[in-house]
Amino acid sequence: MALEKHQFDAVIVGGGGAGLRSALQLAEAGVKVAVLSKVFPTRSHTVAAQGGIAAALGNVSDDKWLWHMYDTIKGSDFLGDQDAIEFMCKNAAKAIVELEYFGMPFDRLDNGKIFQRPFGGMTKNFGESAISRTCAVADRTGHAMLHTLYQRNVRANTEFFIEWYALDLIRDAEGDVLGVIALDIETGEVRIFEAKATLLATGGAGRIFQASTNAFTCTGDGLGMAARAGIPLQDMEFWQFHPTGVLHAGVLITEGVRGEGGYLVNSQGERFMERYAPTAKDLASRDVVSRASATEIKEGRGVGAGKNAVYLKLDHLGEDVIEQRLPGIRQIAKSFANVDPVKDPIPVVPTAHYMMGGIPTNLNGQVIVPDGESQKEINGLYAVGECACISVHGANRLGSNSLLDLVVFGKSTGDHIAKTVKLNKAHKPLPQDAEDKTMSRLARYERPQGENLMQVRLDLRQVMQEYCGVFRFPDLLAKGVDEINAVAERVANVVIKDNSKVFNTARIEALELDNLTEVALATMHAAHNRKESRGAHAREDYEERDDVNWLTHSLYYRENHQLKYKPVQLTPLTVPSFVPKARVY
Ligand code: FUM
Repeated sequence: MALEKHQFDAVIVGGGGAGLRSALQLAEAGVKVAVLSKVFPTRSHTVAAQGGIAAALGNVSDDKWLWHMYDTIKGSDFLGDQDAIEFMCKNAAKAIVELEYFGMPFDRLDNGKIFQRPFGGMTKNFGESAISRTCAVADRTGHAMLHTLYQRNVRANTEFFIEWYALDLIRDAEGDVLGVIALDIETGEVRIFEAKATLLATGGAGRIFQASTNAFTCTGDGLGMAARAGIPLQDMEFWQFHPTGVLHAGVLITEGVRGEGGYLVNSQGERFMERYAPTAKDLASRDVVSRASATEIKEGRGVGAGKNAVYLKLDHLGEDVIEQRLPGIRQIAKSFANVDPVKDPIPVVPTAHYMMGGIPTNLNGQVIVPDGESQKEINGLYAVGECACISVHGANRLGSNSLLDLVVFGKSTGDHIAKTVKLNKAHKPLPQDAEDKTMSRLARYERPQGENLMQVRLDLRQVMQEYCGVFRFPDLLAKGVDEINAVAERVANVVIKDNSKVFNTARIEALELDNLTEVALATMHAAHNRKESRGAHAREDYEERDDVNWLTHSLYYRENHQLKYKPVQLTPLTVPSFVPKARVY
């Protein structure tokens, strides 16, 4: 089949914070760049980031990027790569100044400097006490960032293909990536986007779980594309559960609430974090706080009719502070929990929030795969943002480091692509069969009989929620592997009922389910195989971190669910290593 073709120097899949930051770098460097986005860019999930973006500006009290680096490594439970973490923390202040110059309307202190608030795990002087390091635009920081970056891209003439859904990577016989195949959601037309560089910036995949703070669009599309192209997925066992998702609704209540002085209580009115993290209390890292809440609920000290939540109390902050710093969460609490936090506490539960794993990359965003004892780059392929694993978050991300990751590595990736595409004058020829596999994948939904899409997707989410949650048990993980393998077989048989009468969105949901399945399989298999507890991966049968055997990144290959492991980068770029030690808050 001859598909219509577009040709660009660079094609970016995803119009969230990471994709837009890279696009801006490219467009301003004069590179011919296209952004494909399945939703209007300012509706990408970055818009939902609330509490802020970390940088050691020192606006409230003295701060150093080295302290930020230490906190991030400790937060990652020593699984984060120290070269990448140094790069991110060192470049953070510059990234904030850039955003400020782009027009991002940061909140201000009385002296006119950018406002900063405390966030979990962020400390001064290597763990001494909490520090205000997170810059914010009230509790709508991602919203402000996304609009700022989108407007700058419009000004720089980035070309947008809005409501285009990328289906698969095009890889030639030498393994080089030459672009993507994508579908116009409105018309159903499929086209080829040839590119000297293809950048995946498709965000997270939190919708593999039933309860998630993520938008329904977070379906791991880049990871599915990479896995189908034979690229391994890294550290997929590590999923962050945010301690404060609204009970039943899943909607995020920012950690900024605890940064401003809010705290969690159980049914006895006890401020229970004092027992689990005596120094940091409610501002311990998220894995620690989520486990504490889950334990309180499991041991019968949950609140509400079902005793299945804890309360987040912030009425003592007063209406003025709530209105000035946390207006969005007041609205969310009223709409989704039917409480006004100025008077009443919000019922919250640990809720799937962030994927620490992803497509393995280096500091330039180049996708890297094992090559004997070392690593090699895949020519033409890049990844950035939540879909990538650099890895700066290791086994547990610190809140407000994700927006930082997007802009710091969005820029470095854009810079590297700009240099590379200028050196490569011509496009490589496309393989004859570039679109064949994709077209058969699309055609398979047209079979007359098959599995119901909604039911299979519900079953996938239930399996992940039940067998791979905050605490992980050996028998449940083993059962989870069987169950998710069985769901995957059913996904292959999904049918869209009566194609003539459905909108193209049903087809998109089926295609998204293919990607959710790749992510769910990788997560369950990697979790089952990692026999230790580290960061967000907490096993009942292996309660301790095991640096002798497991200070390694996992690499999951789709074929036969194979798992390989590679060492963590313990050597930073310029400073001495932070040696793994016990992690207490
Ligand atoms: O709690 C929050 O505002 C979320 C921030 C983050 O995930 O970095």
